[in-house]
Order: sequence, then structure tokens, then C-alpha cells
Amino acid sequence: MADSPDLNAALTLAESAARRAAALLLTYFRDPKLKVQQKGATDLVTEADRHSERLIAEMLLSAYPDHALIGEEGGAQGNTQAAFRWHVDPLDGTTNFTRGIPYFAVSVALSDAHNLPLVGVVYDVVHEECFKAVRGGGARLGRKKLHVSKTRKLASALLASGFPGDKRVNPDNNTEEWACFVPRTQSVRRIGSAALELCYVAAGRFDGYWESRVNTWDVQAGLLMVEESGGKLTNYRGRQEGIYDGAQIVASNGRIHEEMLEVLILGDAAPRPHG
Ligand code: IPD
Ligand code: CA
Ligand code: CA
Repeated sequence: MADSPDLNAALTLAESAARRAAALLLTYFRDPKLKVQQKGATDLVTEADRHSERLIAEMLLSAYPDHALIGEEGGAQGNTQAAFRWHVDPLDGTTNFTRGIPYFAVSVALSDAHNLPLVGVVYDVVHEECFKAVRGGGARLGRKKLHVSKTRKLASALLASGFPGDKRVNPDNNTEEWACFVPRTQSVRRIGSAALELCYVAAGRFDGYWESRVNTWDVQAGLLMVEESGGKLTNYRGRQEGIYDGAQIVASNGRIHEEMLEVLILGDAAPRPHG
């Protein structure tokens, strides 16, 4: 068995990599000459995403050469058989970034070989909010300990979600689920960064989040943030399978979790609030 790294030291490094990447991203933000390419029909990548990932990978792998690193843009690097893996989204919210919309983040997580996140950092680049968590050690925004909200009823809840990359060709693209939540909640939001949406659940700004077919780099750090701030995580059936891989995620303050599952399972047959 490989030696377990000191998680607080790993967190410190992850935070400094995220902050350096954020400073780099700002040098590209709102630059009219920014080079944008299309990876898929609606999936964009910029030179800023790639540059940011190179910087983070170099910092993490030079400190932990025996670890693996899975990045959105560069794929798997380092010791791919390793017991510990970094999941790196060098720019979560690329569509916002290309439009000058100031909601995007750097997300860095360290997990074990089963993709259980142990350390997570999500840095909101423009608002300079650094969300961080260590398994068993709580989640923080700067120095402030994070707690999920106390909202008890779905009817008063503010939720967040996103749409999968294959939304044009796959009819299972979250539009039905979205339509079911709209009349049953206070409202539904899409920020355009899964990492930030999960951090906002951890901070009590949102009461819940659901999404399917996201990637480990989008959500690993944010999922740990929710767990460490007292929230609940399951898949759409209320079980644990697939959550850390991003297959299906329901993240909530715990109190509205069953009502969220009811909507995801029953669809439009789920109960509706009166009035
Ligand atoms: C995307 C964002 C978005 C989510 C998409 C992701 P990207 O990541 O997290 O909120 O709905 O599934 O791909 O492409 O901006 O890094
Ligand atoms: Ca992402
Ligand atoms: Ca990204």
C-alpha cells in the first residue's frame, strides 16, 4: 500500500496551484484576442484552459511524482496506477469565460484509487472566494466554516443544475427534470460551473443541486465540500453508486433530499405545492 499523503500539506499545495492558475486565467479573461476552439458541438476550450492545466499539473506532479493526475484537457498523466489521484478542472465555466461572464472557477481534488475525494479546493477567480475541504476536517470559505442551509421544504428551496454535453443528441438531457422542479421550488438556477454550484450548496446559498454525466474533474472537490459542510449526496435513486464519478448526483442540505428524489423518480407525478 502506498503511503497516504499528509492531507493538510496536499490542501496547501492545491490551494496555491489554484490561486496561481486563477491569476493566469485573469490575464486571458475578456481579451478580445482569446483563442477559442470547439471540442464538441457545444463544448469549448481556450488557450487559457490548456495553459492553466499545464501550470497546475506541473506544480502537483513535481511535488507528488508517484500520484496520477486526471485533467480535463490533458487526460491522465503521472503514475496512472497510483493509489492517489488528482482531478483537475483548470477552468470550470469555460462558456462563461469566453463571454466575459464573471462566473468560473479552478477545481482541484485529491482522491483515493476508488475516487473518494480526500482534499478539495474550488477557487472562484473573479470573486476571489477560496472554498476548501479535507475529509473529516470540515469545509471552509477562507477561514469561515461552511454549513448547508436549513431550508426544510422543497417548495421554499433554491436549486441549481446543469445540462450534459450531449444535450443536442440525447433526449435524456435534463430538460424534463428541470421542468418538473420549476413549479415545485422557489426557483432553479444554472451558474454554468458545476464546481461552484456544489460549493454554493455547501455554503447554504443553494439548498440543493442535481446533475448527471458530469466528469470527476467538475465535481470531486465540490462533492467533498458538500459532505464536509453537513450535506447529503446520493444518485437519483437515493444510493451511492456513481456519485463520485459524476454519473448522477443529488447534493442537498439533507432536509429536502427525499423531496428532490421524489421529483427525480416520479417526474410530473410528484406532489406539487399548493398556491
Ligand atoms: C461544465 C460546467 C457546467 C456543467 C457541464 C460541464 P466546463 O464544465 O461545469 O456547469 O453543466 O457539464 O462540462 O466545460 O465549463 O469545464
Ligand atoms: Ca468543468
Ligand atoms: Ca473545464
